[in-house]
Amino acid sequence: MKKNTMTLTNNMTGDSYEYNILEGTRGPSVLDVRTFFADTGMFTYDPGFTSTSACESTVTFIDGGKGELRYRGIAIEDLAKNNTYLETCFLLLNKRLPSKEELYAFDLEIRHRSFLHEGLRHLFNAFPDNAHPMATLSAAVTALSTFYNDHIEMNKEEEFLEMSHRIISKMPTIAAFAYRHSLGIPFIQPDIDLGFTKNFLTMMRAYPGGKMHLCPNGHEEIKNVEVRALDTIFTLHADHEQNASTTVVRGVASTGAHPYVAISSGISALWGRAHGGANESVIAQLEYIGSVENVEAFIQRAKDPDDDFRLMGFGHRVYKNFDPRAKILKSLQDELREELNLDTELMAIARKIEEIALNDDYFVSRNLYPNIDFYTGIILTALQIPKSMFTPIFVIGRTVGWITQWIEFKKDKTSKIARPRQLYLGD
Ligand code: ACO
Repeated sequence: MKKNTMTLTNNMTGDSYEYNILEGTRGPSVLDVRTFFADTGMFTYDPGFTSTSACESTVTFIDGGKGELRYRGIAIEDLAKNNTYLETCFLLLNKRLPSKEELYAFDLEIRHRSFLHEGLRHLFNAFPDNAHPMATLSAAVTALSTFYNDHIEMNKEEEFLEMSHRIISKMPTIAAFAYRHSLGIPFIQPDIDLGFTKNFLTMMRAYPGGKMHLCPNGHEEIKNVEVRALDTIFTLHADHEQNASTTVVRGVASTGAHPYVAISSGISALWGRAHGGANESVIAQLEYIGSVENVEAFIQRAKDPDDDFRLMGFGHRVYKNFDPRAKILKSLQDELREELNLDTELMAIARKIEEIALNDDYFVSRNLYPNIDFYTGIILTALQIPKSMFTPIFVIGRTVGWITQWIEFKKDKTSKIARPRQLYLGD
């Protein structure tokens, strides 16, 4: 059978080089240029990796043109509708959904591993009250690695899974502690009688002793609708192929560092507003815009090439049609409108921006559609979660994706240290 290849010709020398075309099970073919430098003495140039595949993977598939996202082959729409976040975690780690018994055991283990070592608890006191929870989170996760030295050398499947379960279960506790530290209020320990998402909301909101009445946001108890909305947000964030923070996690994995240090680096990368930090910036921007009447002026600013202003929550490197996660959250938002009291001025501003941008040639011609962060900000605001906790919530959801990709990298016998080259233009 004829091998699929591509021949590249150097027009200066006339030399030709043939490269194999690799076929994935889904998505575009990939040109294998691993020997390019050895063959030609030249590097390829692709800043921002817009045309580069850096690994083989079976975790997540995205078709940006069609607006398709799958975890282990299952469409995100099906997972968001039929499965919980914990089931999604099991799926990503084990390549299949759990049976009822497996889910029970997994849930139990996650609940029991959610406590932090007392030594780690004291670390939070070292940070100023006004520290951003993302900075505290990244530092605390690095510190977590000091308690688990044995996670550096792992070979057995059980070791990989134990290390993963540990970080997935502790992340909500770390995030809730970071939040409570920022308010100067006592930490609430995890409650093993509560499921993953409700436990996190309780650690955020409750008074010591786990009492929910008289809690600051006026809720007497955590409503099922709130748990459902947040659980869906976790599921939608669980993984996203080779995005910026995952690429950082794999890069750190390639040097042989501790997995939790790799996750900590992922947290730092996610913090930026071009990435996960956009969810916080969306709401800050809506507040800054202030009223529906001001929207048009800000849309003009976003379109002005001489103005740095960008509409937060719009555009995506990969999705050039729509972000399927945004679509799911938009319908969830419409569905929960009454229950979550979503008819606010902020919501009206958001709707106006959405309406103008979706019909404006500047945004349409550049394929700039609302992304997941546009809607998470609105839903999380309705859940009375402060802006500074939006990106930590993204972290909680994405931890399973990062660790799954870390394990995949480790198990790939062909993986190498990440070491790109450059086009040198200096003296
Ligand atoms: N508002 C206004 N114009 C925009 C926006 C925006 N949000 N996003 C992109 N553009 C314009 C750019 O100015 C550029 O215009 P030009 O062709 O006239 O120069 C064009 O659209 C392409 O933009 P790039 O920055 O080249 O696109 P890229 O794929 O590199 O960036 C990104 C994607 C970073 C998400 C960008 O759209 C952005 O900054 N969006 C706002 C921040 C945001 O919402 N980030 C969350 C992403 S989702 C996530 O990480 C979970």
